Amino acid sequence: MQLSTVLIEKFKTSKNILALTGAGISAESGVPTFRGKEGLWKEYRAEELATPHAFKRDPKLVWEWYLWRIELISTKSPNPAHFALAELEMKRSDFHLITQNVDGLHKRSGSEKIIEIHGNIFRNRCTNCNRTFDSDPSKLKNSTECPNCKNLVRPDVLWFGESYDTDLLNRAVSLAERSEIVFVIGSSGAVGIPVELARIAKENGAFVIEINIDPSGYSRYSDLFLQGKAGEILPELIPYFI
Ligand code: APR
Repeated sequence: MQLSTVLIEKFKTSKNILALTGAGISAESGVPTFRGKEGLWKEYRAEELATPHAFKRDPKLVWEWYLWRIELISTKSPNPAHFALAELEMKRSDFHLITQNVDGLHKRSGSEKIIEIHGNIFRNRCTNCNRTFDSDPSKLKNSTECPNCKNLVRPDVLWFGESYDTDLLNRAVSLAERSEIVFVIGSSGAVGIPVELARIAKENGAFVIEINIDPSGYSRYSDLFLQGKAGEILPELIPYFI
């Protein structure tokens, strides 16, 4: 990777680094992205199933899709992009990670300071008592009843049309406001709030580095667009920040 000495110096001396990741960072692990053609399940698009309306209409169908995704993700492993960010967290106490991914791969690669703004597919929440608990795919196959109150449980993820958790969102905004370097990795920008975080960061003076195989809805805020696979670019780029 060819970087100017001015950029290299900037990277070394910047304070507060934030990474905002999307489905593209897990693509090289074999997890289908949402909006690629491999994001389809049977004939459905994610936008047709990941909604409160779809769940109300046909919880069995929505659970069938989630069980398929849970099982698929369970067979996948973190890739060099996840590990590069985990290493950055280990070496820099001013690094934070906000992910839109519900696949848990950042945690499995060793990252700990993560805000999962869209939830986690390996956690469930009761539609009645709101209790959350880790999901056990083999048990879910037989029952999607809350062990506490016997009502229906749902995946503890944010669906289209639902509001963000206010506390998580406030923390994400304050990280965006104070970060001097912001990576945007593998996200299309089709969802408004994450793009807003990039805009807020930019407005507050952050240097925004985008890594994506294609330009995206974030590209208008990028100071540096690195086109290519996250799993190839991040392991080369991260040493400049350590
Ligand atoms: N490296 C980098 N970027 C990649 C790679 C890769 N190997 N492979 C794909 N991409 C990029 C694509 O070009 C695309 O811009 O990743 C992006 C994936 O976009 P989406 O599938 O739209 O995923 P994301 O932006 O995370 O979606 C946001 O939408 O469905 C909801 O809640 C869900 O969190 C999700 C949100």
